Amino acid sequence: MELAGEVDEVGSAVTEFEVGDHVFGIQGYNQPCGAHAEFICMRERAPLAHKPAGMTFEEAAAVCDGAISALGELRHLRKGQRILIYGASGSLGTAGVQLARYFDAHVTAVCNTKNVELVRSLGADEAIDYLHEDFTKNGETYDVILDAVGKHSFRRCRGSLKSGGIYVATDLGFLWHVPILALMTRRIGDKKVTFSITKNTKQDVLFLKELIEAGRYRAVIDRRYPLEQVVEATRYVETGQKTGNVVLTVSHDGGA
Ligand SMILES: NC(=O)c1ccc[n+]([C@@H]2O[C@H](COP(=O)([O-])OP(=O)(O)OC[C@H]3O[C@@H](n4cnc5c(N)ncnc54)[C@H](OP(=O)(O)O)[C@@H]3O)[C@@H](O)[C@H]2O)c1
Repeated sequence: MELAGEVDEVGSAVTEFEVGDHVFGIQGYNQPCGAHAEFICMRERAPLAHKPAGMTFEEAAAVCDGAISALGELRHLRKGQRILIYGASGSLGTAGVQLARYFDAHVTAVCNTKNVELVRSLGADEAIDYLHEDFTKNGETYDVILDAVGKHSFRRCRGSLKSGGIYVATDLGFLWHVPILALMTRRIGDKKVTFSITKNTKQDVLFLKELIEAGRYRAVIDRRYPLEQVVEATRYVETGQKTGNVVLTVSHDGGA
């Protein structure tokens, strides 16, 4: 869905973009995917913007999906709130850490030993290595717990939520029961389950561009593969072990 590249052709009514402009963005959810390609046709009003200054195509291609998915619930964070991000080393997780930090929350990131330094460098106030510590047993409580990899559950971490706290689920594909829990916790108990259905808007892309240009956001890239190796790239992503994002590069003129 997400991409960066150079504008090759524009329609006669287009005013925002010109041939040769460097752009980045994401397909809207009501549009087909199709960004794993040399060319893609998008509307001017699509979630597309000029590429942030000083960013490569590869970096820009890895910005939107994870960040906009994380932004859904995090934009409601208030200054000083305590958030724990479980699975802080994925695409959504690395975005979540930076966005929560941007919204002035106190961020605790949970990840594997090898990614502790990374999440700290992204702005986490505290990092918990899940191989050595179970955050549900350390007595700490949070206003928000973001399960960024869909590997935890409301049942297991509700004791780590403050009264009025919110558990944010992300992977609805596998967590079919989340909408039911969200409805139930709206009426019962003082801890809520929530999720957001992201719309991918141009406004979101422009917001991220602003953050990047202000030095407040960067895309974390694990591996790069040429487009011809899309199968190998997908196999690697499906291991569930990638750190941040995996990027496909297009051979001519650097699109991604
Ligand atoms: N990427 C997106 O833009 C996007 C958008 C919408 C929804 N989603 C959904 O959001 C979920 C996350 O996707 P993603 O692309 O961000 O990451 P991902 O590829 O699913 O997760 C990779 C990261 O999760 C960590 N991880 C794996 N098992 C873990 C565990 N048990 N506890 C804590 N961390 C663990 C891995 O590091 P270690 O193995 O080293 O711990 C790795 O860094 C997926 O279910 C995806 O379908 C993703």
